[in-house]
Order: sequence, then C-alpha cells, then structure tokens
Amino acid sequence: MTDIDTAVATAHASGNAATDKFKTARVSCDTSPERAAAIYRDVLSALGEVIHRHEVTYDEYRVLKQWMIDVGEYGEWPLWLDVFVEHQVEDVNYSRNGLAGTKGSIEGPYYVPDAPQLPAVCTMPMREQDRRSTPLVFSGQVTDLDGNGLGGATVELWHADEDGFYSQFAPNIPEWNLRATIVCDDEGRYEITTIQPAPYQIPHDGPTGWFIESHGGHPWRPAHLHLMVKAPGRLPITTQLYFRGGDWVETDVATAVKPELVLDPVRGADGVNRVAYDFALDPTP
Ligand code: DHB
Ligand code: FE
Repeated sequence: MTDIDTAVATAHASGNAATDKFKTARVSCDTSPERAAAIYRDVLSALGEVIHRHEVTYDEYRVLKQWMIDVGEYGEWPLWLDVFVEHQVEDVNYSRNGLAGTKGSIEGPYYVPDAPQLPAVCTMPMREQDRRSTPLVFSGQVTDLDGNGLGGATVELWHADEDGFYSQFAPNIPEWNLRATIVCDDEGRYEITTIQPAPYQIPHDGPTGWFIESHGGHPWRPAHLHLMVKAPGRLPITTQLYFRGGDWVETDVATAVKPELVLDPVRGADGVNRVAYDFALDPTP
C-alpha cells in the first residue's frame, strides 16, 4: 500500500492509492483469443492511422514512450483511463443497447465494495469537519420501468468531501467516511442525509496534468455523488448525480455528465439542501 496514512492529502497520493487498490484485485476476463486478436488488430491500426495522418516524428514517438512510463510510475493509469476512456466503455455497455432505465455513468477509480449497511432513512458516516459543509438530504425510490417500488433494493453511495477527497484514498479519513450501502425499505424508498460534495480535481502536477495542459484542457470534474443501485431481478446501474449550475458541469474533464443525471436541490430556510431522485432499473435480460 502507498503510505496514505502518513502522506498529506494530495490528489497525487489519491492516484497512487487508486493504483494500489486496483492492483490487489488482479482482474481477469473470459475474452476469446479470436475476439482479443480482433480488438488488438483494430487498436494498432487506429494508432497507425493517427501516426500516418499526423506524420508523427521520432521525437514525438519517444516523448510518448517517456510519458507512458511516467504515467505508470506516478500511479496515474486508473485516473487517466477513467477520465479519458471509461465513458466510452460505459456508453457501449449501458447507454446504447436499448436500456430504458436511469442512465449510467462512469464508476471512476474510487469505488470500494462492501461498504457497511445503513437503513433506508439514514445519515452517511461523516466527521465533525464534514458537518460544517452544506447538508444534503437526498430521497427517492428505486422502481421498475413502470414506477413500481422494488423491495430488496440497495443504494451504494460514495462521494468526496468538501476538499474533493475520498476515504480510503486520502490520508487521515475514517475508512468508510461518506460511503455506505443503504438498504431501501419494502417499497424501494430511501432518505439519505449527507453533505454537498465539492468539485474534484484530478492530479494535475504529474503526467495526466501535462497531458491536459498540452491540449489546453482543465483538470476538473463537477461535484458529484457516485451511486450503485441494485434490486433483485434487475440490472444494477452504476451512475453519478451532479448539481445544476455547479462549476464544471458543462465541461467535465471525464465527459461523464448526462442531462438526466443533474440534480436541482432546493435550499430550505434551515440551510439544508433537499432533492428527490428516483432510480428506474431495467429487468435483467
Ligand atoms: C476520477 C476521479 C473521480 O472521482 C471520478 O468520479 C472519475 C475519475 C479520476 O481521477 O480519474
Ligand atoms: Fe468521483
């Protein structure tokens, strides 16, 4: 593990922690050799096409090599891939194949499974300092495509704190801070009290930052909630919710905002933001 317990909270340390976490899972898949070969061939030919179109020089090729080495050494591959590539994979798998339920969005590098369970009406685990942020009460229902509530539904919620840091990926934050598995009631309803997350800045002092700078981009994601919503007999969704009018909503560096996923909370006289949002889940095929 990276020394996230002793490190100061930086986006860079979070990136390293994301790499360490990912590596421990040792993922695999059952892609056939034929399919793998077809994908590799197409990747190489797409790359070849770009090299020819732009007449890439040897110096440029060597800089690419150096940059790829640097991304690995800085522990930034999970960040770079989830910011610049994951939205395409999400689109192909969940948005383009005729699904009618709530739209998905990218998982990002900071999901951790098996967050402790909380009841349908709950407050997210948070520190004293988190309580100084604007409270957000987020309520709704998990339904089928006809709006019928689904018993047995769970909503996993994880998000950054006011400084844009995630527990388990930045130092000195309790393990399950701002992470929970909410067990909905018999009709799929939930009412979750949490805090307004802050926009998130991907590490910009390393190779991902050089990459962004090189084409005049910015390193920001808009403030967001991450959710994984499941119910028996339904396709689970991984998605994110954003906040209308928030910074970077229109120009998310990760291209992961969809208009259906933007919340518009109302600030009460008590200073609490409240918003309702329902999740409709497709049946499993
Ligand atoms: C990244 C971080 C996030 O919080 C997220 O939702 C998506 C991507 C990243 O740093 O790559
Ligand atoms: Fe995130």
